[in-house]
Amino acid sequence: MRRPVFETKQRLLSLLSAEQFLSGKELAQQLGITRSAIARHVKELSLLGVDIFSVKGKGHKLAQPLDLIEEDKLAHMLQGVRPESAELHVFPMIDSTNQFWLTRKNETIASGSACFAECQTAGRGRRGRQWQSPLGAALYFSMWWRSTSNLSELMGLSVAVGLAVTRWLNRLQVPAQVKWPNDVYVEGQKIAGILVELEAAANGCGQAVIGIGLNVALPSSAAEQIDQAWTQLSDHLPQALSRTELAASLYQALFECLSQFELNGLESAIQDWAHYDYFYNQPIRLLMGQHEIHGICRGVDGHGALLVEGAEGIKSYFGGEISVRGQDATG
Ligand code: BTN
Repeated sequence: MRRPVFETKQRLLSLLSAEQFLSGKELAQQLGITRSAIARHVKELSLLGVDIFSVKGKGHKLAQPLDLIEEDKLAHMLQGVRPESAELHVFPMIDSTNQFWLTRKNETIASGSACFAECQTAGRGRRGRQWQSPLGAALYFSMWWRSTSNLSELMGLSVAVGLAVTRWLNRLQVPAQVKWPNDVYVEGQKIAGILVELEAAANGCGQAVIGIGLNVALPSSAAEQIDQAWTQLSDHLPQALSRTELAASLYQALFECLSQFELNGLESAIQDWAHYDYFYNQPIRLLMGQHEIHGICRGVDGHGALLVEGAEGIKSYFGGEISVRGQDATG
């Protein structure tokens, strides 16, 4: 959707943030558009996951105020953190923030370039899953990184990023844990997901798009569509932080993780994995297509592979999905 169309929606959103209901007629007058255009925008915003109360005879208002990312403020907060040549975008709406960089993979883009979106129409998760992306309710964030490592050395990057996001949440006093390879959980429920997509550059070096989806405060309409146990930052964060502040802080944590990975590699990035590992020393099932591996989780090795201790000792696995024995907890 083009920006001018979304600008009307943004102005409508700010009118809908008022305490009192505003009728279709009042909204139409203030925005200089017809009442039927207002009705269409309200419907489209609801489809994007915005909770709008519409009461016959009264009008419309937001169920709860929206906290949108302030691009200028974000750019200001990232001064001295983001390389000067790195791009920064905040899109009102996009198909997928990861896809934004992948379609530009043949261009010269500075490492640390980042884009955020208020909502995604085709947000994607790992294993071809959909990632629910309602407007203003979560962080949808992708960073572009050009590495000097080759693709096989970058395989462990997603594990390092999962741990970095987990540590970052703990610094905010949110008791997060990581579930191999990179799901982030709080009290047994998923709070963030990470999708790393790798590409080889012409010179053989690896390029990566690192996408992070972090639930902040989801509307009930979107929450109903998530088919796994989930949680959100607003239920755990001891202090109030805006999505702009969270975006700046998460950018910094990810940028530092990638810079360290580039300098020192995976082994150094995951030294404290066991401390944050959701399954460490727990009996698990590893689901690998038709196969199931049973054993005790012993963390990860220096390549990011999962270590499982079974009857024949400890073995490492690169693929598959963990489930707790007895209860299905796949993410
Ligand atoms: C998972 O399945 O757990 C990974 C989810 C990753 C979602 C994020 S949201 C920002 C970025 N853009 C996408 O389309 N996906 C990632």
